[in-house]
Amino acid sequence: MSIYGQYEPRLTDLLAILEDQIAAINAAETAAGRPKLYEHLSGRVKTPESMLEKCQRKGYPQTTEAALRQCKDAVGVRIVCNFIDDIYRSLECLKAAPWCTVVKEKDYITNAKPNGYRSYHLILDVTTPFADVDGNTPGHYFAEIQLRTIAMDSWASLEHEMKYKHNIKEPERIGKELKRCAEQLASCDVQMQTIRQLINSADEDDR
Ligand code: GTP
Ligand code: MG
Repeated sequence: MSIYGQYEPRLTDLLAILEDQIAAINAAETAAGRPKLYEHLSGRVKTPESMLEKCQRKGYPQTTEAALRQCKDAVGVRIVCNFIDDIYRSLECLKAAPWCTVVKEKDYITNAKPNGYRSYHLILDVTTPFADVDGNTPGHYFAEIQLRTIAMDSWASLEHEMKYKHNIKEPERIGKELKRCAEQLASCDVQMQTIRQLINSADEDDR
């Protein structure tokens, strides 16, 4: 049995629910004549091995309870958006959704991490039709949502890849270059947003 115990298949179910609900929110937006909320979604259930490692690292007991309650990112979905304003629209939609509540928010867009990392993080409490780790039905499960633009996402995946290369020369130089790169991408995101607004207001002038 893994650290998730009998709840392991429920995490896959939860991920499917999340992806469906987020897709439904997006469908409602486009049906209302507004632009799509995101370019794509990507979801994952944290492997039992990395959850075990996380519990050890954080000093939590290696139990299903800790994996599902103390750790809140057993299930994660990334919402990758075209424009910065799509992130905030998605955020408003999630806050208004009846099937979840936001229990924690971290705005690494307004306050980027020192290394240049940018994203908007949410921890959701999601209501499920199946039992949770306390045995209650409907259940309550935590999930982590990361909202980011395509530019933020490409930076994060490159940085993630390099983090695990420990034999690199000049790590300070690389860190500095990565941060500069993050700032340039952030400035592109702002420019793209401006272009979108210019196009939108030109459309309105035509009406
Ligand atoms: P954990 O408890 O370890 O998940 O960290 P935390 O509670 O401080 O969460 P935080 O919001 O800082 O980060 C959670 C997730 O965001 C990570 O698992 C990564 O997916 C992503 N993330 C955060 N910081 C970075 C970063 O500097 N680089 C990259 N590539 N991803 C990051
Ligand atoms: Mg995490």
